[in-house]
Amino acid sequence: MREKVNLDQPYIFTVTSGKGGVGKSMASTHLAEMLGAIGYKTALLDADVGLSNCATMMNESTGYTVTDWIAGDCLLDDLSQTVGSVTLVTASSDPGAMSVDSNTLMNALDQVVLNLMEKHDFIVIDTPAGAGEITLWALDRADTGVLLLVDEPAAISDVYRLCKYVYSMDPTFRFAAIVNFAESDTTAESTYLRFNHILDYFLKKEIRYLGFIPFSGKIRKALSDQRSIFSYDDSRELTTDFTFITQNIVADARAIQQQFANSINQL
Ligand SMILES: Nc1ncnc2c1ncn2[C@@H]1O[C@H](COP(=O)(O)OP(=O)(O)OP(=O)(O)O)[C@@H](O)[C@H]1O
Ligand SMILES: [Mg+2]
Repeated sequence: MREKVNLDQPYIFTVTSGKGGVGKSMASTHLAEMLGAIGYKTALLDADVGLSNCATMMNESTGYTVTDWIAGDCLLDDLSQTVGSVTLVTASSDPGAMSVDSNTLMNALDQVVLNLMEKHDFIVIDTPAGAGEITLWALDRADTGVLLLVDEPAAISDVYRLCKYVYSMDPTFRFAAIVNFAESDTTAESTYLRFNHILDYFLKKEIRYLGFIPFSGKIRKALSDQRSIFSYDDSRELTTDFTFITQNIVADARAIQQQFANSINQL
Protein backbone atom coordinates (compact mmCIF):
# COMPACT_ATOMS: atom_id res chain seq x y z
CA MET A 1 0.00 0.00 0.00
CA ARG A 2 2.93 2.39 0.60
CA GLU A 3 3.63 4.59 -2.36
CA LYS A 4 6.35 6.86 -0.90
CA VAL A 5 6.27 9.94 -3.07
CA ASN A 6 7.43 13.31 -1.87
CA LEU A 7 5.73 16.47 -3.02
CA ASP A 8 8.03 19.41 -3.79
CA GLN A 9 5.48 21.76 -2.30
CA PRO A 10 3.33 20.78 0.67
CA TYR A 11 -0.39 20.61 -0.03
CA ILE A 12 -2.71 22.06 2.59
CA PHE A 13 -6.39 21.23 2.83
CA THR A 14 -8.89 22.49 5.36
CA VAL A 15 -11.84 20.32 6.32
CA THR A 16 -14.91 22.42 7.03
CA SER A 17 -18.69 22.50 6.73
CA GLY A 18 -20.37 25.40 8.48
CA LYS A 19 -22.56 23.02 10.48
CA GLY A 20 -21.37 21.15 13.56
CA GLY A 21 -21.33 17.41 14.10
CA VAL A 22 -21.12 16.43 10.42
CA GLY A 23 -17.92 14.39 10.70
CA LYS A 24 -15.13 16.95 10.12
CA SER A 25 -12.84 15.57 12.82
CA MET A 26 -13.58 11.95 11.92
CA ALA A 27 -12.76 12.66 8.25
CA SER A 28 -9.67 14.80 9.07
CA THR A 29 -8.09 12.21 11.36
CA HIS A 30 -8.70 9.27 9.00
CA LEU A 31 -7.61 11.10 5.84
CA ALA A 32 -4.41 12.10 7.66
CA GLU A 33 -3.95 8.52 8.82
CA MET A 34 -4.42 7.16 5.30
CA LEU A 35 -2.05 9.71 3.71
CA GLY A 36 0.55 8.79 6.35
CA ALA A 37 -0.02 5.07 5.79
CA ILE A 38 0.67 5.34 2.04
CA GLY A 39 3.97 7.06 2.71
CA TYR A 40 3.33 10.79 2.68
CA LYS A 41 4.72 12.91 5.48
CA THR A 42 1.46 14.16 6.90
CA ALA A 43 0.57 16.66 9.61
CA LEU A 44 -2.84 17.23 11.17
CA LEU A 45 -3.55 20.61 12.75
CA ASP A 46 -6.55 20.49 15.06
CA ALA A 47 -7.71 24.11 14.84
CA ASP A 48 -10.94 23.59 16.78
CA VAL A 49 -9.69 26.03 19.38
CA GLY A 50 -10.84 25.14 22.87
CA LEU A 51 -12.83 22.08 21.78
CA SER A 52 -10.20 20.02 20.00
CA ASN A 53 -10.88 16.31 19.76
CA CYS A 54 -8.53 14.85 17.14
CA ALA A 55 -6.12 13.64 19.85
CA THR A 56 -8.97 11.87 21.64
CA MET A 57 -10.18 10.31 18.40
CA MET A 58 -6.61 9.07 17.79
CA ASN A 59 -6.45 7.66 21.33
CA GLU A 60 -3.75 10.09 22.44
CA SER A 61 -3.69 12.45 25.34
CA THR A 62 -3.25 16.06 24.28
CA GLY A 63 0.31 17.31 24.75
CA TYR A 64 1.41 20.94 24.61
CA THR A 65 -0.92 23.09 22.55
CA VAL A 66 -0.49 26.28 20.52
CA THR A 67 -1.98 28.35 23.34
CA ASP A 68 0.59 26.82 25.75
CA TRP A 69 3.26 28.01 23.31
CA ILE A 70 1.72 31.50 23.23
CA ALA A 71 1.80 31.49 27.05
CA GLY A 72 5.53 30.65 26.93
CA ASP A 73 5.08 27.20 28.51
CA CYS A 74 6.82 25.27 25.73
CA LEU A 75 8.85 25.58 22.51
CA LEU A 76 7.43 25.48 18.97
CA ASP A 77 8.91 22.03 18.38
CA ASP A 78 7.21 20.70 21.53
CA LEU A 79 3.83 21.11 19.82
CA SER A 80 4.30 18.19 17.40
CA GLN A 81 3.00 14.87 18.69
CA THR A 82 3.74 11.77 16.64
CA VAL A 83 0.65 9.56 16.39
CA GLY A 84 1.37 6.55 14.17
CA SER A 85 2.54 8.06 10.90
CA VAL A 86 0.90 11.46 11.52
CA THR A 87 2.29 14.60 13.17
CA LEU A 88 -0.51 16.05 15.30
CA VAL A 89 -0.59 19.67 16.51
CA THR A 90 -3.48 20.86 18.68
CA ALA A 91 -4.43 24.55 18.84
CA SER A 92 -6.03 24.30 22.25
CA SER A 93 -8.06 21.87 24.29
CA ASP A 94 -9.03 24.47 26.89
CA PRO A 95 -12.33 26.33 26.27
CA GLY A 96 -10.82 29.27 28.23
CA ALA A 97 -8.35 29.69 25.35
CA MET A 98 -11.10 31.24 23.25
CA SER A 99 -10.34 34.47 25.15
CA VAL A 100 -6.81 34.59 23.64
CA ASP A 101 -6.51 37.60 21.33
CA SER A 102 -7.43 36.29 17.88
CA ASN A 103 -4.60 38.10 16.05
CA THR A 104 -2.06 36.61 18.44
CA LEU A 105 -3.58 33.17 17.94
CA MET A 106 -3.64 33.42 14.15
CA ASN A 107 -0.05 34.70 14.03
CA ALA A 108 0.98 31.73 16.16
CA LEU A 109 -0.98 29.33 13.92
CA ASP A 110 0.76 30.85 10.88
CA GLN A 111 4.14 30.05 12.40
CA VAL A 112 2.99 26.52 13.22
CA VAL A 113 1.89 25.98 9.60
CA LEU A 114 5.17 27.37 8.24
CA ASN A 115 7.06 25.05 10.56
CA LEU A 116 4.98 22.02 9.48
CA MET A 117 5.43 22.94 5.80
CA GLU A 118 9.18 22.43 6.11
CA LYS A 119 8.83 18.74 6.92
CA HIS A 120 5.52 17.53 5.49
CA ASP A 121 3.90 16.73 2.15
CA PHE A 122 0.34 17.17 3.39
CA ILE A 123 -1.14 19.38 6.08
CA VAL A 124 -4.74 18.65 7.04
CA ILE A 125 -6.53 21.33 9.08
CA ASP A 126 -9.61 20.39 11.10
CA THR A 127 -11.84 23.37 11.88
CA PRO A 128 -14.54 24.27 14.38
CA ALA A 129 -18.21 24.41 13.39
CA GLY A 130 -19.36 27.74 11.99
CA ALA A 131 -17.68 30.36 9.84
CA GLY A 132 -15.68 32.13 12.53
CA GLU A 133 -12.26 33.75 12.27
CA ILE A 134 -10.32 30.52 12.74
CA THR A 135 -12.25 28.71 9.99
CA LEU A 136 -11.70 31.64 7.61
CA TRP A 137 -8.00 31.73 8.58
CA ALA A 138 -7.71 27.98 7.91
CA LEU A 139 -9.38 28.32 4.51
CA ASP A 140 -7.17 31.26 3.60
CA ARG A 141 -4.04 29.20 4.28
CA ALA A 142 -5.27 26.16 2.33
CA ASP A 143 -4.85 25.10 -1.29
CA THR A 144 -8.32 23.57 -1.09
CA GLY A 145 -11.29 23.79 1.26
CA VAL A 146 -12.75 20.31 1.64
CA LEU A 147 -16.47 20.65 2.41
CA LEU A 148 -18.26 17.88 4.26
CA LEU A 149 -21.72 17.71 2.72
CA VAL A 150 -24.61 16.04 4.49
CA ASP A 151 -27.97 15.55 2.79
CA GLU A 152 -29.97 17.72 5.17
CA PRO A 153 -31.40 21.19 4.37
CA ALA A 154 -29.81 22.99 7.35
CA ALA A 155 -26.39 21.50 6.58
CA ILE A 156 -26.61 22.35 2.87
CA SER A 157 -27.73 25.89 3.65
CA ASP A 158 -24.83 26.40 6.13
CA VAL A 159 -22.22 25.15 3.69
CA TYR A 160 -23.71 27.23 0.86
CA ARG A 161 -23.51 30.42 2.97
CA LEU A 162 -19.93 29.60 3.93
CA CYS A 163 -18.99 29.14 0.24
CA LYS A 164 -20.80 32.32 -0.77
CA TYR A 165 -18.92 34.31 1.87
CA VAL A 166 -15.52 32.87 0.92
CA TYR A 167 -16.15 33.43 -2.81
CA SER A 168 -17.12 37.06 -2.04
CA MET A 169 -13.61 37.53 -0.67
CA ASP A 170 -11.78 35.25 -3.12
CA PRO A 171 -13.73 34.33 -6.27
CA THR A 172 -10.98 31.89 -7.34
CA PHE A 173 -10.96 29.87 -4.11
CA ARG A 174 -10.90 26.07 -4.66
CA PHE A 175 -13.48 23.99 -2.85
CA ALA A 176 -13.98 20.25 -3.11
CA ALA A 177 -16.66 18.07 -1.52
CA ILE A 178 -16.97 14.83 0.42
CA VAL A 179 -20.48 13.58 1.16
CA ASN A 180 -20.76 12.10 4.66
CA PHE A 181 -23.51 9.97 6.23
CA ALA A 182 -24.28 8.69 2.72
CA GLU A 183 -26.81 5.89 2.22
CA SER A 184 -25.16 4.73 -1.01
CA ASP A 185 -22.80 5.92 -3.72
CA THR A 186 -25.83 6.97 -5.81
CA THR A 187 -27.43 9.11 -3.09
CA ALA A 188 -24.02 10.61 -2.26
CA GLU A 189 -23.46 11.63 -5.84
CA SER A 190 -26.93 13.12 -6.11
CA THR A 191 -26.32 15.15 -2.90
CA TYR A 192 -23.11 16.48 -4.44
CA LEU A 193 -24.79 17.19 -7.81
CA ARG A 194 -27.65 19.07 -6.14
CA PHE A 195 -25.22 21.19 -4.15
CA ASN A 196 -23.10 21.86 -7.22
CA HIS A 197 -26.24 22.87 -9.10
CA ILE A 198 -27.13 25.39 -6.35
CA LEU A 199 -23.59 26.84 -6.55
CA ASP A 200 -23.76 27.03 -10.32
CA TYR A 201 -27.25 28.60 -10.36
CA PHE A 202 -26.67 31.28 -7.72
CA LEU A 203 -22.90 31.85 -7.80
CA LYS A 204 -21.74 30.46 -11.16
CA LYS A 205 -19.27 28.21 -9.38
CA GLU A 206 -18.58 24.51 -9.39
CA ILE A 207 -16.63 22.31 -7.03
CA ARG A 208 -14.92 18.96 -7.36
CA TYR A 209 -16.34 15.70 -5.99
CA LEU A 210 -13.79 13.76 -3.91
CA GLY A 211 -16.01 10.86 -2.85
CA PHE A 212 -18.29 9.80 0.00
CA ILE A 213 -18.26 8.23 3.45
CA PRO A 214 -21.20 5.93 4.18
CA PHE A 215 -23.32 6.19 7.31
CA SER A 216 -21.78 3.35 9.28
CA GLY A 217 -22.23 1.79 12.70
CA LYS A 218 -18.57 0.74 12.47
CA ILE A 219 -17.53 4.41 12.40
CA ARG A 220 -19.56 5.15 15.54
CA LYS A 221 -18.24 2.06 17.30
CA ALA A 222 -14.61 2.74 16.34
CA LEU A 223 -14.83 6.37 17.50
CA SER A 224 -16.45 5.44 20.77
CA ASP A 225 -13.69 2.85 21.33
CA GLN A 226 -11.06 5.46 20.27
CA ARG A 227 -9.83 3.15 17.52
CA SER A 228 -9.12 3.76 13.86
CA ILE A 229 -12.16 2.98 11.71
CA PHE A 230 -9.84 0.98 9.44
CA SER A 231 -9.18 -1.53 12.21
CA TYR A 232 -12.95 -2.24 12.41
CA ASP A 233 -13.36 -2.56 8.66
CA ASP A 234 -13.33 -6.33 8.03
CA SER A 235 -15.25 -5.96 4.75
CA ARG A 236 -12.80 -3.20 3.67
CA GLU A 237 -15.73 -1.09 2.49
CA LEU A 238 -14.64 2.00 4.46
CA THR A 239 -11.01 1.46 3.42
CA THR A 240 -12.11 1.43 -0.24
CA ASP A 241 -14.17 4.62 0.17
CA PHE A 242 -11.35 6.45 1.98
CA THR A 243 -8.81 5.21 -0.57
CA PHE A 244 -10.91 6.71 -3.37
CA ILE A 245 -11.07 10.08 -1.57
CA THR A 246 -7.35 9.99 -0.74
CA GLN A 247 -6.39 9.20 -4.34
CA ASN A 248 -8.42 12.20 -5.52
CA ILE A 249 -6.72 14.45 -2.95
CA VAL A 250 -3.27 13.21 -4.03
CA ALA A 251 -4.20 13.78 -7.70
CA ASP A 252 -5.26 17.36 -6.85
CA ALA A 253 -2.02 17.98 -4.98
CA ARG A 254 0.00 16.77 -7.97
CA ALA A 255 -2.09 18.82 -10.43
CA ILE A 256 -1.54 21.99 -8.39
CA GLN A 257 2.16 21.23 -8.21
CA GLN A 258 2.28 20.78 -11.98
CA GLN A 259 0.48 24.10 -12.53
CA PHE A 260 2.97 25.75 -10.20
CA ALA A 261 5.93 24.19 -12.06
CA ASN A 262 4.48 25.31 -15.42
CA SER A 263 4.01 28.88 -14.21
CA ILE A 264 7.62 28.97 -12.96
CA ASN A 265 8.86 27.65 -16.33
CA GLN A 266 6.98 30.41 -18.14
CA LEU A 267 8.79 33.14 -16.17
N1 LIG B 1 -20.17 8.32 8.37
C1 LIG B 1 -20.54 8.24 9.65
N2 LIG B 1 -21.28 7.21 10.10
C2 LIG B 1 -21.68 7.15 11.40
N3 LIG B 1 -21.35 8.04 12.32
C3 LIG B 1 -20.60 9.09 11.95
C4 LIG B 1 -20.14 9.25 10.59
N4 LIG B 1 -19.43 10.39 10.52
C5 LIG B 1 -19.41 10.92 11.76
N5 LIG B 1 -20.11 10.14 12.61
C6 LIG B 1 -20.37 10.41 14.03
O1 LIG B 1 -20.83 11.75 14.13
C7 LIG B 1 -20.36 12.36 15.29
C8 LIG B 1 -19.71 13.70 14.95
O2 LIG B 1 -18.48 13.46 14.24
P1 LIG B 1 -17.30 14.51 14.33
O3 LIG B 1 -16.97 14.80 15.75
O4 LIG B 1 -16.23 14.05 13.43
O5 LIG B 1 -18.06 15.79 13.71
P2 LIG B 1 -17.50 17.30 13.62
O6 LIG B 1 -18.07 17.87 12.37
O7 LIG B 1 -16.04 17.31 13.78
O8 LIG B 1 -18.20 17.95 14.89
P3 LIG B 1 -17.86 19.41 15.52
O9 LIG B 1 -18.53 20.41 14.62
O10 LIG B 1 -18.48 19.33 16.87
O11 LIG B 1 -16.37 19.56 15.55
C9 LIG B 1 -19.39 11.38 15.96
O12 LIG B 1 -20.07 10.79 17.02
C10 LIG B 1 -19.10 10.37 14.88
O13 LIG B 1 -18.97 9.07 15.43
MG1 LIG C 1 -14.79 18.36 15.13
